[in-house]
Amino acid sequence: MSTAISQTAYNYKVVRQFAVMTVIWGVIGMGLGVFIAAQLVWPELNLGMEWTSFGRLRPLHTNAVIFAFGGCALFATSYYVVQRTCQTRLISDGLAAFTFWGWQAVIVLAVITLPMGYTSSKEYAELEWPIDILLGVVWIAYVAVFFGTIVQRKTKHIYVGNWFYGAFILVTLLLHVVNSAQVPVSFFKSYSMYAGATDAMIQWWYGHNAVGFFLTTGFLGMMYYFVPKQAERPIYSYRLSIVHFWALITLYIWAGPHHLHYTALPDWAQSLGMAMSIILLAPSWGGMINGMMSLSGAWHKLRTDPILRFLVVSLAFYGMSTFEGPMMAIKTVNALSHYTDWTIGHVHAGALGWVAMISIGALYHLIPKVFGREQMHSIGLINAHFWLATIGTVLYIASMWVNGITQGLMWRAVNEDGTLTYSFVEALEASHPGYVVRMIGGAFFVTGMLLMAYNTYRTVRAAKASEYEAAAQIPAGVAH
Ligand code: HEM
Ligand code: HEM
Repeated sequence: MSTAISQTAYNYKVVRQFAVMTVIWGVIGMGLGVFIAAQLVWPELNLGMEWTSFGRLRPLHTNAVIFAFGGCALFATSYYVVQRTCQTRLISDGLAAFTFWGWQAVIVLAVITLPMGYTSSKEYAELEWPIDILLGVVWIAYVAVFFGTIVQRKTKHIYVGNWFYGAFILVTLLLHVVNSAQVPVSFFKSYSMYAGATDAMIQWWYGHNAVGFFLTTGFLGMMYYFVPKQAERPIYSYRLSIVHFWALITLYIWAGPHHLHYTALPDWAQSLGMAMSIILLAPSWGGMINGMMSLSGAWHKLRTDPILRFLVVSLAFYGMSTFEGPMMAIKTVNALSHYTDWTIGHVHAGALGWVAMISIGALYHLIPKVFGREQMHSIGLINAHFWLATIGTVLYIASMWVNGITQGLMWRAVNEDGTLTYSFVEALEASHPGYVVRMIGGAFFVTGMLLMAYNTYRTVRAAKASEYEAAAQIPAGVAH
């Protein structure tokens, strides 16, 4: 029986597992975001303990939202898309299950070690060396499952969404291995193999490409499958998608130095990073336009389909943040924005508006499919979620723009005699209202995630195991 299933049915079990964990980690990671946002409003919430201090919980937030929420969304959708577009089952159920349990283990270890203060102190790569090794092994298994499945595909060509997922998977491995090269001094402490400006450059080569490949290229893979699927229209231009792919991956890899403007990094490297970042606007917008234009003839669906709204609004935020990013990469603009809340606003325009919204839209499409249901339990709740997420994101980023520009201008203001016009504390006081608004925006976003958790729970509870199996059957004929 099991061999019969394995030849004729997709492996949706691992997709279901990752999909449910995406929602759970989303609620936890973003809930933590609201908590640390509240700490910036009421410092008493640090609770006087090192484990609950802002400095320890902030990296926990970033790891939980990027790697737990975003990572699970990428695993779930890539396994779903690669099977359906290749018309074949994942190459190994065992290895796929290993990636699921291994990834959850990495996250749980992060949840334990980060509040305890174990950190390599490299942003977005804080986890200590034993966890790094586990992460590397899990990722190699992911490479094997994904590319193994591509190799045994029943279709002739490889759908463009898989190209994006494939690049994200390979480059993430490369980044992780190079940036995590370290000398352990004990089980819980290591030091980077690199020193000084080289260490900084490697770190931001990693950091920027974590944005470029983890938070962008992977989610573009998602976009290329779920936008046309939900709109029931083909991709606007397949040719543009290929140009988009090669241009994006060629340029992203050079842009890292824009994180190190006005530092000890050689000036030519800073200028190179700036130039590459500005050129990056072109493929980014090419991709956004390709996604948006796929709605040609289907725009009316936005009136009734909140899932499509999530997907389209995510593309709008993608366009916005990839316009803002190149502007911030210009050295003179960066002189104002760096160290201020403007960066935080930019980050969350990408993180909430693009990454979270596209994942939410894709999951609302995928969850009923892998649980054998027609649709989610409540479309009304999806609609409510859409408005909470949109309003929450706008409150977040607008308040951080106001804060960022205020801070930048106050810090650089000088009196005629050359002394500073404002003390640091005055700039902090001016930022307080913005922090309150950001916290409220975050609370809106998390409320939407709670609605999603309830909607998912009701959808899953209504589904029967026999329905899952029927839904996973591979239809003979065209790929989809
Ligand atoms: C309810 C939603 C969220 C809230 C309220 C929130 C709040 C916060 C806060 C307060 C910070 C620290 C800012 C500072 O140090 O001044 C932060 C940092 C960060 N968050 Fe979030 N966050 C949310 C969702 C997300 C999501 C979904 C992602 C990614 C997919 C994300 C990625 C990040 C990153 C990368 C940073 C570090 C930014 C930097 O160092 O420049 N956040 N967040
Ligand atoms: C063409 C695309 C983009 C360019 C050129 C770009 C450029 C920049 C620049 C110049 C900074 C500020 C660096 C600094 O002053 O320290 C920055 C920060 C950041 N951006 Fe972007 N950005 C782009 C798209 C995105 C997207 C789509 C996301 C999220 C999904 C994102 C996430 C981040 C994060 C997390 C940081 C903060 C890093 C840190 O300091 O911890 N960016 N980006």
